[in-house]
Order: sequence, then structure tokens, then C-alpha cells
Amino acid sequence: MNMKDTLRQMKEEALEKINEVGADLEQIRVRYLGKKGELTAVLRGMGQLSAEERPVVGQIANEVRANIEEALTRRAEEMKAKALEMKLKAEKLDVTMPGKAPAMGHIHPLTLVQRDLEDIFMGMGFSIVEGPEVEYDYYNFQALNIPPEHPARDTQDTFYITDKILLRSQTSPVQARTMEKQKPPIRIISPGRVYRSDPVDATHSPLFHQLEGLVVDKGITMGDLRGTLDVFAKKEFGEDTRVRFRPHHFPFTEPSAEVDISCFSCGGKGCKLCKGEGWIEILGAGMVHPHVLEMGNIDPNEYSGFAFGFGIERIAMLKYHIDDMRLLYENDVRFLKQF
Ligand code: DAH
Repeated sequence: MNMKDTLRQMKEEALEKINEVGADLEQIRVRYLGKKGELTAVLRGMGQLSAEERPVVGQIANEVRANIEEALTRRAEEMKAKALEMKLKAEKLDVTMPGKAPAMGHIHPLTLVQRDLEDIFMGMGFSIVEGPEVEYDYYNFQALNIPPEHPARDTQDTFYITDKILLRSQTSPVQARTMEKQKPPIRIISPGRVYRSDPVDATHSPLFHQLEGLVVDKGITMGDLRGTLDVFAKKEFGEDTRVRFRPHHFPFTEPSAEVDISCFSCGGKGCKLCKGEGWIEILGAGMVHPHVLEMGNIDPNEYSGFAFGFGIERIAMLKYHIDDMRLLYENDVRFLKQF
């Protein structure tokens, strides 16, 4: 085969290879145009050619080189464009695809009730204060007129850290702490956890929640207590709700009352919820005992006050017809989803 044909054939072969799917362009370039490549080999043999033939073959060789180079560049650009197109296709975002909704959390019924109560009392000008759950015996009992050995302690057996430090059995110690720190007028509520060494059953738990209320000012009467609880009962249980006071005893209030509301399920006729009574016991309340005011450095001749306290679980259970307290702490999503 003469040199011209070799060159032409080389060109055909090279162009074909360049256009093959998945061609390795660098390898092709080295094979044909590299220092040890096929074209270079042909050029080396040019010495044997005649003087007339040399420029002709030289020109063809230059054309072949140019053709192959051009084809390599064009193909490289093509491959680059193709790769980009594939990449864009792969990365394309379909904004019409249905989204994956995150599993949203949910407010616990106890929190719902607590927030309700906070809103109601804040609406009447109360502010919210918090007290420690690990409490001194002094605030939990003594400052509330319950000295050591007082029988009222038996009803609120709790967990002791030391002789003097315990898990608070009620939110009432926040009354004593507030009076020590703040001069009247005082108008606070204090929600939070309390503890008692009760075994767990449908209506008892060693941990539960209470909400305490305290108002101290000049000229506060039981009428103010009554009016405040009336507003609370209507807002929380419905506008037709009536409130009833029954005489009771708490060491830190005098007089004291247990407070019932008319049954919001039957309106007072008697039903399963109120156990046929027409009334539901809801909280304890009374006028702050003068001795408790004194221990809080407030002069009972100048000031008077009222206090109340209730269980948040009890309200949640009544309101949502929950018949077992344990459901509130098990955190079974199937239960919690309902509120
Ligand atoms: N602390 C009482 C209890 O846990 C409830 C209570 C009764 C709170 C009367 C008060 C009150 O503020 O005046 O049983």
C-alpha cells in the first residue's frame, strides 16, 4: 500500500473510532497523533519518497492530522454537552411530586388544660409564678400552718430527700414563697408538678399537677373568691356552669371551702359523670389564714386574701371524659392524637 492510501485509511479508521460510543479520546489521540503514534511513524518514512511526492504526501499528512484533531475537539465538546445534559436531567426537581409530610408533634391534654387555665386567670390580671419541685419542709408545710406532727401531713405523704427537704406535695408552698418576696397587691397563679407517695391506679399517681391561686390585697373578701371562681368555671366549663361552696377545713385558710361546679354534662340533673349528684367537686379554696399572712410578713390587720388550688389532671379527665389517669402518662400516640 502506498503512503497516501495508508494515510487516508488511517484517517477513516481514526474518525470511526472517535465517533464510537464511549470512545476514549485521549487514548485515540495518543495512538494516532502522539510522538510514538501512527501518523508520526508514517512521517518518519517520508525520507524514502521522491522529491515530487514528498510535498504531496506531506500535505495529505497535515490534512489528516488537522482532520483528526478537529474530530477529537468536536467529539470532546459533544461528550461534554451530553454529560451536562444527563446531569441536569438527573438533578431535575419535580416540584409537582407529592411531598413527604413530617410527623408533627401534638400538645398533650394536660398542657392544653394548663394553657387554658393560664389564659383564663391571666385574663383576670393574674401573673404566673413558678416554684421549686424539690422543696423545704418549711414552705410545703410549716409556713402553711402545718407544723411537724400535724395530722394534715398524713393526707399528703410525699418523698423525702432529707428531714428538711422533700418533693412538694402541693403547689401551695408557692403562696408562702410569694408572700415572703412580694408585697401586696399579690395576684398570682402557680401551675406545676407535685408528688405524693400514692400507688398508681386509675385515679392516683405519685406525680401529678396542680394549679395554685393567691390574691392578697386590702379589703379582699370571700365575695372576690366567689366571683373569681365563677368566672373561671364559666370560661372553663361553659357559661351555664354554677359554683357551690361547701364548708371544709384546710390548715392554711380560714374559712375554707370545697368548691363544686354544676355538672357540665347533665346541667345538674344527675348523670354518670357526676355520679348522679348533679355537682362535681373541683377544687379547694378559702381565705388566707391570718397566721399564714403573718409568716409571710404581711399584716393581717391591714391585708386579707384568698387562695385556691386544684388538680390539673382532674380537670382534664372531666373535660375530656378520660376515665383512667394512667392514660395521661403512658404517652400512647393513639390516645394523645384525640385531643
Ligand atoms: N393544697 C391543697 C391540696 O393539695 C389544695 C388547696 C386547698 C389549695 C385550699 C389552696 C386552698 O390554695 O386555699 O389539697
